[in-house]
Amino acid sequence: MTSSVWLLLVLSIPLTMHSLMELTEAYGICYGMMGNNLPPASDVVAFYKKLNVTSMRLFDPNTAALQALKGSGINVALGVLNADIPQIASSMDGANQWFTTNVAPYINDVSISYITVGNEVIPGQFAAQVLPAMQNLQNILKRKSLQRIKVSTVVATVVLGTSYPPSAGAFSNDAIAFLSVRDGNLGYQNLFDAIVDAFFSAMEKVGISNVDIVVSESGWPSDGNGVFTTPNLAATYNKNFITHISQGGTPKRPNTRIEGYIFALFNENLKPPGVEQNFGLFYPNFTAVYQI
Ligand SMILES: *[C@@H]1O[C@H](CO)[C@@H](O)[C@H](O)[C@H]1NC(C)=O
Ligand SMILES: *[C@@H]1O[C@H](CO)[C@@H](O)[C@H](O)[C@H]1NC(C)=O
Repeated sequence: MTSSVWLLLVLSIPLTMHSLMELTEAYGICYGMMGNNLPPASDVVAFYKKLNVTSMRLFDPNTAALQALKGSGINVALGVLNADIPQIASSMDGANQWFTTNVAPYINDVSISYITVGNEVIPGQFAAQVLPAMQNLQNILKRKSLQRIKVSTVVATVVLGTSYPPSAGAFSNDAIAFLSVRDGNLGYQNLFDAIVDAFFSAMEKVGISNVDIVVSESGWPSDGNGVFTTPNLAATYNKNFITHISQGGTPKRPNTRIEGYIFALFNENLKPPGVEQNFGLFYPNFTAVYQI
């Protein structure tokens, strides 16, 4: 696998994109923690501030990270561990318990913009519990007048296999085209746009028209699969991603901006060897893997 793009569906409050963008910058960075050599969370939060990156995705309610985020002003998309979904879905008591432990202690000092219920659990063993879990959390937020926090789930959309692109020679161009070619007359030249619009269409077909889509992970590894994964390609991909989501919407929703998170901040050495360990913009010592 050379690249992955995951979309996050925001299924809760029908904010317009305009008001969504008032709340958050166009892009953030995923703070993954699957490494045994990563710096303390307080240094990481200071680093986001130094980079002027104002949004962070956390994959679980990590206590050290949430403590460090207090007073930082950084907007956080806070993940619920898949294993916690059954408890949250089971009853309001179960949901309240989770909320009391993982959200309540931080709610006054940390700017939580989303709670994302599970990571790529549909389809799968917890799929049927995602909606009840989302509804229970939504009820809690409503009761506490915290509707500014949007409840969502993260749905896997596309993983480009090793067969893409067809030849290494075409690769540089394709990597650039992936996010930069926009030509309405030729249909979807841009895979990113095609994926996002496919989601909008699918949602409309089942009667959900007022959803916002956030790209919850988008990245390219800088190593691990030969010529397909170089620092240059990763830099190009991420640069194009930032430009693309800052510039505007898709053919289906041309006047909206799409919020997205780059995967990921660090190379993580406890992930499976190969490309998976090389998605980081930075080494654990904060040195850039490549310049954007
Ligand atoms: C962050 O913003 C400050 C103030 O606008 C600016 O001086 C600084 O150069 C920026 N840092 C980066 C890494 O862009
Ligand atoms: C940071 O780590 C990388 C990768 O291990 C290494 O190449 C680089 O020299 C280190 N930078 C500093 C300033 O220590």
